[in-house]
Amino acid sequence: MKRDLISILDMEDDIEDVIALALRVKRDRYSKRSELNGRTIGLIFEKPSTRTRISLETAITQLGGHGIYLNPNDMQMGRGETVEDTAKVLSGFLDAITYRAFSHENVLKLARHSSVPVINALDDVEHPLQVLADFMTIAEKKGRTSNLKFSYVGDGNNMVNSLVLGCSLLGMDISIGTPKEYRPNEKFIEKAKEISRKTGSKIVTTVDPKEAVMDADIIYTDVWISMGEEKQRETKEKAFKPFQVNGDLVSGAKKDYIFMHCLPAHRGLEVTDEVADSINSVIFQEAENRLHSAKAAFLTLMS
Ligand code: CP
Ligand code: NVA
Repeated sequence: MKRDLISILDMEDDIEDVIALALRVKRDRYSKRSELNGRTIGLIFEKPSTRTRISLETAITQLGGHGIYLNPNDMQMGRGETVEDTAKVLSGFLDAITYRAFSHENVLKLARHSSVPVINALDDVEHPLQVLADFMTIAEKKGRTSNLKFSYVGDGNNMVNSLVLGCSLLGMDISIGTPKEYRPNEKFIEKAKEISRKTGSKIVTTVDPKEAVMDADIIYTDVWISMGEEKQRETKEKAFKPFQVNGDLVSGAKKDYIFMHCLPAHRGLEVTDEVADSINSVIFQEAENRLHSAKAAFLTLMS
């Protein structure tokens, strides 16, 4: 049976193994690999991308496969061919499909109607490939993925949904600070709390950014205006001002905290240069780990 990666919950049973595999793949980065030899993977991107697209294409090449970038506007999808029909047609050519979409529903639809694995390359609800790289980076920097306090400050968006689920699977405590109008989706918080009853992680939401980062091992933020939300710029920038990750805010964290961001960063808004370029910042190691963890994801889903 094919295996999709739509939500980080699709790795509920083996997320720790996938992280360990990503670390091994990174260590062996210069060995020649051929697991995807003769296989072709499509990359449908409805939104721009630097990290996701390039790490996926490079991962496919380094595993011996071939990636095809597919701009929906250059396909009949852009002229109204349905996602269902596209899924069935592409399944006849490709061995897997990665999809960055505006709508989570469309990612689910593509997966339902494809006979090959579908990997969510970010939608409005989740970003599972990103959080795999994030937890891998935490494992590298902290030597563990539990018994840590993860603090997220900013918008209750797609990143938070995947992060809170991932933290709950790993048994990592998470404290989420957002303005009250931009709280994370309650459905994801509830699901994470349900999982945490087994794994022991503590899940807290607050509207006080200082409380969120108190004694943090990890401080994470993301853009205030996600792709597709450009019209909300003015209102959101006002609401999020007190949630900027700056020198004053991070002073409440542990001395050896690490600063993370999925990137792209809007410096001077959600984070200052002082923090993004500090010795605590691991943002570029985190970005590089997108490649190694993408390889681990392909090896896990397609072997
Ligand atoms: N973090 C991330 O997904 O970056 P891109 O939008 O550049 O792919
Ligand atoms: N929340 C951001 C993440 C970008 C990687 C967005 O959806 O635009």
